[in-house]
Amino acid sequence: MRLGVVILAAGVGKRMRSALPKVLHPLAGRPLLVHVLDAAARIGSAQTVVVYGHGGEQVLTALADRDCAWVEQPERLGTGHVVQQAMPLVGTMERILVLYGDVPLLDPETLGRLIEASRDCPLGILTAELPDPTGYGRIIRDPATGRILRSVEHRDATPEELGVRECNTGFLVADRARLQGWLGRLTNDNAQGEYYLTDVIAFAVADGDEVASVRAPTIEEVSGVNDRIQLAALERHYQRRQAEDLMRRGVTLADPARIDIRGTLETGQDVTIDVNLVVEGRVTLGQAARIGPNCLIRDSVIGEGAEILANCVIEGAEIGAGARVGPFARLRPEAQLDIDTHIGNFVEIKKSRIGPGSKVNHLTYVGDTEIGSGVN
Ligand code: UD1
Ligand code: MG
Repeated sequence: MRLGVVILAAGVGKRMRSALPKVLHPLAGRPLLVHVLDAAARIGSAQTVVVYGHGGEQVLTALADRDCAWVEQPERLGTGHVVQQAMPLVGTMERILVLYGDVPLLDPETLGRLIEASRDCPLGILTAELPDPTGYGRIIRDPATGRILRSVEHRDATPEELGVRECNTGFLVADRARLQGWLGRLTNDNAQGEYYLTDVIAFAVADGDEVASVRAPTIEEVSGVNDRIQLAALERHYQRRQAEDLMRRGVTLADPARIDIRGTLETGQDVTIDVNLVVEGRVTLGQAARIGPNCLIRDSVIGEGAEILANCVIEGAEIGAGARVGPFARLRPEAQLDIDTHIGNFVEIKKSRIGPGSKVNHLTYVGDTEIGSGVN
């Protein structure tokens, strides 16, 4: 099956109150849209199309190196209209999956389940049971058979329909040719005067087809970012999951709420991490390494049993097994510390190799040099 992915990213993001387009705001150090593009790649998208909004060239420029196609939605006429803009670029695909540029924590596993459940249906939708469904489309099912009949937008719903808990997440997968036909039938005759993508559900039913559905197992994976409060909430959720993952892998965290991983962290067994570590890029901590409080570590490898004391900034460095660094040390790119080195406080090291067992005492700058062994 050739799967095309269409990502809606044409929103203005007014409530962010930002000069930066919403989908470029970072979560765990990566733009929201990059999370979505990565998820699309992971589920095997053969063609990904991002629909950006008027004035959204900043998004294009920032993500120019990504393997996807871009198309502009010149006017904001509704979610159905957005998908229409992308259709000419996915003409050779068999199925289309619709994702949202501002829903960053989507789970490729859930999307896989949705695709699988929709295998024999021209349309499948991801729904969610939300504690507060205000503003969401409600899924209307046949009371007798439980089959999906349509989705009604909050603003178009009757009081009775508003009582429905099952909501439309907006994520859907559809047969490409059928979707093309349904999109051509959309009208904007509704409370918002928009072309609603969700109307395709009723079209499929009217054509006599069954609409498949999967319920999202968590709320966060279908939650969008509209303001900085929601962004912060999803960031915390994401970091909490990373922390739990680390602990399951045998890492001791002084406080799982006080570690931020903005990249990838690989760890050996029995690593101990004190509070307020920020990890950026790719970082490896060898077995039994110990990280003191308030450290920033970016793109570095830290050897077995090495100890980083409080308040160190380490970037692009390689630290050998058994080394002891800090407190208050700054290791800059290409700092290479051999095994059992000792780097004292207020030491800065750049582009230098420190030989095995060497000590660099406090208040020293070491740049572009090589130090053998012994005390310096
Ligand atoms: C939509 C769904 C609703 C669902 C909800 C889930 C429709 C009609 N409704 O409602 O059933 O419960 O998502 O969050 O699809 N966008 C554009 N261009 C447009 C319109 C929208 O790019 O012309 C983008 C928005 O920026 C946003 C997304 O599409 O990222 C959803 O649009 P929005 O109007 O916010 O839809 P909802 O009202 O949330
Ligand atoms: Mg709307």
